[in-house]
Amino acid sequence: MKNMPIGVFDSGVGGLTVVRSLIDRLPREHIIYLGDDARGPYGPRDPEEVRRFAREIIDCMLGFNVKLVVIACNSATAAALEEAQRDYNIPVVGVILPGVRAALGRSRNRRIGVTGTVLTIASGSYERAIRRLDPRAEVFSRACPEFVDFVERGEVDGEHIVEIAKGYLAPMAGAGVDTVILGCTHYPMLVELIQRIVGDGVALISSADETAEEVEDILERLGWVRNDNSVGRRYFLATGDAERFTELGQMFLGPEVKEVIEVSFDARPELSFD
Ligand code: DGL
Repeated sequence: MKNMPIGVFDSGVGGLTVVRSLIDRLPREHIIYLGDDARGPYGPRDPEEVRRFAREIIDCMLGFNVKLVVIACNSATAAALEEAQRDYNIPVVGVILPGVRAALGRSRNRRIGVTGTVLTIASGSYERAIRRLDPRAEVFSRACPEFVDFVERGEVDGEHIVEIAKGYLAPMAGAGVDTVILGCTHYPMLVELIQRIVGDGVALISSADETAEEVEDILERLGWVRNDNSVGRRYFLATGDAERFTELGQMFLGPEVKEVIEVSFDARPELSFD
């Protein structure tokens, strides 16, 4: 098991922020990342449809003998995590609970803002997870549907996005939250802008690091940490355009995104791991 890869997927490039944290924390692990950019973004889609996509991707990952799957997408976590954890017999990790734990660890006044896609916010997944861990917490949620497109256009500041962001975030800032969860893979690209709007005293939580920590905990508990001395292999697969994925992927992850392989679910590429 130790030498098997970790499978990570998202609706596109956003989940690469989680891969960044995984590489930093677990550099020896082999990683396969699949970005479903042909069908992403998932945020505006129906949860049932996203559940079906997630299942298709996890089945594909199992074909590569992954030892653990990370659903590195808030929308797909909201739609599919519970079912995936029930139906697959390898560990499946989502990004919502790690973010919630981090937020509750940071908040002093227990007033927590949650931002995310329409699907994520409508699912109530963050609210439920927060209340389960701290029934006294107050949650102020807001879908921020336009952020993903802005980030993917590389427009992370400027008059237009500032106006939109104020509309989304001013109400939760006014409600006195001291912690805001960036409940979407793209929002860490907007931290400077979001911080300006909610104020310096508000902690912004992105779940990438906490998710990587959870993966490490699980692998350690199972005795599945790869302990070979070599750096792990990383493969980047995309269901859509590899060129666009590479360009955006470098913005989310860094120079490690070099070769991107275009995949379809009925023709799996050969990937080798030693
Ligand atoms: N990865 C998605 C998420 O974290 C954002 C992009 C999308 O809508 O698919 O919710």
